[in-house]
Amino acid sequence: MTQRHFLNLTDAGGDAVAAMLNDAIDRKAARVGLPKGQPDADAPLAGRVLAMVFEKNSTRTRVSFDVAMRQLGGSALILDAGTTQLGRGETIADTARVLSRMVDAIMLRTDDHAKVEELARYASVPVINGLTDLSHPCQIMADLLTVIEHGKALPGLEVAWLGDGNNVLNSIVEAAGLMKFNVRIGVPEGYESDARMVEAAQLAGANIRIVRDPVEAVRGADVVVTDTWISMGQAHAEAKLAAMEPYQVNEALMAHAKGDALFLHCLPAHRGEEVTDAVIDGPRSVVWDEAENRIHAQKSVLRWAFGQI
Ligand code: CP
Ligand code: NVA
Repeated sequence: MTQRHFLNLTDAGGDAVAAMLNDAIDRKAARVGLPKGQPDADAPLAGRVLAMVFEKNSTRTRVSFDVAMRQLGGSALILDAGTTQLGRGETIADTARVLSRMVDAIMLRTDDHAKVEELARYASVPVINGLTDLSHPCQIMADLLTVIEHGKALPGLEVAWLGDGNNVLNSIVEAAGLMKFNVRIGVPEGYESDARMVEAAQLAGANIRIVRDPVEAVRGADVVVTDTWISMGQAHAEAKLAAMEPYQVNEALMAHAKGDALFLHCLPAHRGEEVTDAVIDGPRSVVWDEAENRIHAQKSVLRWAFGQI
């Protein structure tokens, strides 16, 4: 088997994504009531070490991968790029070669997607994308798990995205192509998501539509999703914030979605900007399940990366 890397959802493909989600559901159910750090009974990654390299901040990704490795019977190291030699100019290629001799898998959170591709090119162990400016596939695995867990099937699902066309949206669009659901993207002009990913998902049979009217985006949706208007590494631009304002997810906007629509947000949230307290703390919000599911979904991504799924 050639070395598996999880840089985007399409690296795995729809069948593998479905298999990972099933595995995550089963493993989550099997460990109900166990202390969070206790390994699963089968400890499938016993003895394996994951190195996590962060060039950007993180709470959920770093904690969930660390706990995921513990639950799988392995362990994790957290490397803050700024305090490693990477921060002093050692190349990604050399870092990949060295880490591959010392650990069993590498996760990278960085800015330019080309960096995670370069890491994968030179690594001889699995590389996982922990967020780049282009995509956030691990987040979307958790989102899909959350949606399924709340009783909604993926094929034919109507997803509404509101706000900035960012990395999280790009991975939702990718997932739509793989899992055959539809996305209405409510986004102001000039802030659209990656056009090639939209085209690929459309070619795969997903209905992806960009709409300017936030009500049209949300009307009849099964799931409403948003994210910060200013992603990590982006300038805090007043013009962008002003353009995003009509796309705030508030109770008035949610009223246009289906009565049982779910609200998702990858977090961290900027309450009062992209979402109001009433929505994120309201009855349709499943954001805390979504955050916890980072652990369960990533355990299955890790197992897939090691050829166990
Ligand atoms: N959603 C997410 O990736 O959160 P962190 O930035 O805290 O890792
Ligand atoms: N779009 C956000 C996601 C954070 C998890 C960012 O890139 O900052």
